[in-house]
Order: sequence, then structure tokens, then C-alpha cells
Amino acid sequence: MTERFPVLVTGGAGYIGSHAVLALLDADWPVIVLDNLSTGFRWAVPEAATFVQGDVADAPLVEAVIREHGVRAIIHFAGSIIVPESVVNPLKYYQNNTAKSLSLIGSAVATGVRHFIFSSTAATYGVPQEVPIPEGAANQPINPYGTSKLMTELMLRDVSAAHPINYCALRYFNVAGADPAGRSGQSTAGATHLIKVACEAATGKRASVGVFGTDFPTDDGTGVRDYIHVSDLADAHVKALEALIADTASSHVVNCGYGHGYSVLEVLDAVDRVTNLKITRVFEARRAGDPPALVSQNQVIRERFGWAPARDDLDGIIKDALAWERKLAERSVSA
Ligand SMILES: NC(=O)c1ccc[n+]([C@@H]2O[C@H](COP(=O)([O-])OP(=O)(O)OC[C@H]3O[C@@H](n4cnc5c(N)ncnc54)[C@H](O)[C@@H]3O)[C@@H](O)[C@H]2O)c1
Repeated sequence: MTERFPVLVTGGAGYIGSHAVLALLDADWPVIVLDNLSTGFRWAVPEAATFVQGDVADAPLVEAVIREHGVRAIIHFAGSIIVPESVVNPLKYYQNNTAKSLSLIGSAVATGVRHFIFSSTAATYGVPQEVPIPEGAANQPINPYGTSKLMTELMLRDVSAAHPINYCALRYFNVAGADPAGRSGQSTAGATHLIKVACEAATGKRASVGVFGTDFPTDDGTGVRDYIHVSDLADAHVKALEALIADTASSHVVNCGYGHGYSVLEVLDAVDRVTNLKITRVFEARRAGDPPALVSQNQVIRERFGWAPARDDLDGIIKDALAWERKLAERSVSA
């Protein structure tokens, strides 16, 4: 078994980070969460993790935390994630996702951290020439969000060549669902993720769901995406950590998806089926920069990390997301 040492998780009070914290704790890794709570929630961090409220670019704080706890690996989730916002406010994204990642990577190098795992995105590909998308496809992001993430990947590539640190950039496709045991889920207000939005409609938090574009070159004309259960994604981080430790000479850039996609209408049909409701669909024009289909090739993560999906089931993803949405509704009633 791999020797356990403390892992610093930035953004661990957020949606995906909180699930990764659970997966790490479940696998007996000591965890320190660093989060400024700009979009995350203190209550989303389990008792068993140490919590530090602060910014990833506060180098004196970050370096003190690393030294105090003997951190040897960082998993970096903290960032800003809304693509349309990145178009109207690009500097926010270059600041929070790129410049602050630079500071964090600098703190890692200064303190001798050996391994760095980074939340990247399928948005680094832009509009793909080939679907399913292989990791070797051209990186041509079409929005500042994707560019801000790609720049961090490139910094990690160059820093790992110059310093004794290896890295893994995980390019997430569409993340959905919630912890099947009900310990965490997506709690962000105003989220734009389709399954989250549809579950909000199913629980009466919104009246309808927008379908953006019905004239894409796909089977039913709506956009196709590769939905990955957040717990399978969390598991990919644990496996990436083990792989970085097992071979310190190697770094990795890997897709995280199931290798097949569903259209917007297929997802909404599934939500209707799971909930026994007929959620109102409002058909609207395509949004600028929405590719017709984003589906991953996932051989690399399977072969290098021995990762395999355990929850590749759209109805199951929706059931877990819905159960969390109902919990959130109870929480807001009792608050
Ligand atoms: N949700 C998706 O489908 C998706 C897809 C691809 C990539 N990602 C990436 O995954 C990561 C996590 O996304 P999420 O959906 O969990 O978002 P989230 O907003 O729920 O989580 C982000 C967390 O980071 C914290 N944070 C933000 N800036 C910070 C800073 N400067 N210092 C300290 N903490 C900070 C927030 O408070 C929050 O807890 C992001 O980097 C995002 O770009 C998400």
C-alpha cells in the first residue's frame, strides 16, 4: 500500500473538491482543505479534514500550512468556473485561475511539494475536430475560462521539467451527480449545469429548463455531452495521486469522462423518467461557442491509472443529484 502523507486540497469546500476530500478520507489520506469560501461552504468539509480558510495566492499562509502539516501533494480545485462570465470578465479568470495558480505552484516549489494534481477541463480543446476527443487533440480554447486553465497546464509542464515535482492535469468533461451516501452534492446557487438545473426544476426551485439549440448536427439536434458521476471523478484523483507517487519521473494529462454522450433531450427524458414528472422545456437559440458534441476518449486514464467507471448510468446520476437537491431544499426550509 502507498505510504500515506498529508494532502493539501484547494477548493475542497466546493462541489467536486468536497467529493475528492471524501474519497481521500475514505482511502485513509490525511487531508487539509484550503478554501476562501467564495463559492464553497464550510459545512461541505467533513469533520475528519483540517480546514484552513484562505486564498491559494496567499503564499505566506500556504507555505506555512504546507510546512506545518508536512504536505507532499497538492490537489488544486480552487478556481472560477462559469464560462459565460469568463467571456465578459476575462481578467477575473486570468487572475483567479492562472495568476493565483502560478502563485500556488510557486509555493509548492518553494516548499518541496513533490506532486501536483490540477482540475483542468474539456474546454481546453475548444471545438474538437474529432469526437470522441483524444488527449493529443489540438488545444484551441474558445473562451477565457478554457485558456486560463490551459495556461496553468502549460506552467505545470514547464515547472515539472525544471523542478522535482510531477503533475497530473485531469480534463473533466461534464461533472454531475452527488455522493451516493448523501454526504455531499452540488450546492452552488445559480449553477448552469444541465442535470443540476433539471433537478432544481423537479424540486420546484425553478419553473422550466432551457434547451439551447435544436439545430446542431446531432441525432436530435441538441448538444451532446459526456456526463461523469462526481464520485467516479473523485476516485480518479485518488488514482492519479497513487500514480504520481509510484512513478515520480512521469506526469500526465488525461481526459475524465465515460467515452459516450447524451443529448440534452435524452438527459431531460431521463429526468422525467426518474422523477415521474414532465419538466417544462423552453427551446432557445444556441449559445455562442457551444460545440455540438463533447465526448472524451478515456483509454489513457483507464490504462495508466487502472481507473474504471463504477457509476456509468445516467438514471443513477440523476437519482443521486435529485436526492441531494431534496436535501438542499430541506436545509433551506429549516435554515
Ligand atoms: N463542475 C464542472 O463540471 C467542471 C468541469 C471542468 C472543470 N472543473 C473544474 O473543477 C474545479 C472545481 O469546480 P467545482 O464545480 O467544484 O466549483 P466550485 O465553485 O463548487 O468549487 C470551487 C471552490 O474553490 C474555492 N475557491 C475559488 N477561488 C479560490 C481561491 N482563490 N482561493 C481559495 N479557494 C478558492 C471556492 O470557494 C469553492 O469552494 C474548478 O477548478 C473547475 O474549473 C469543473
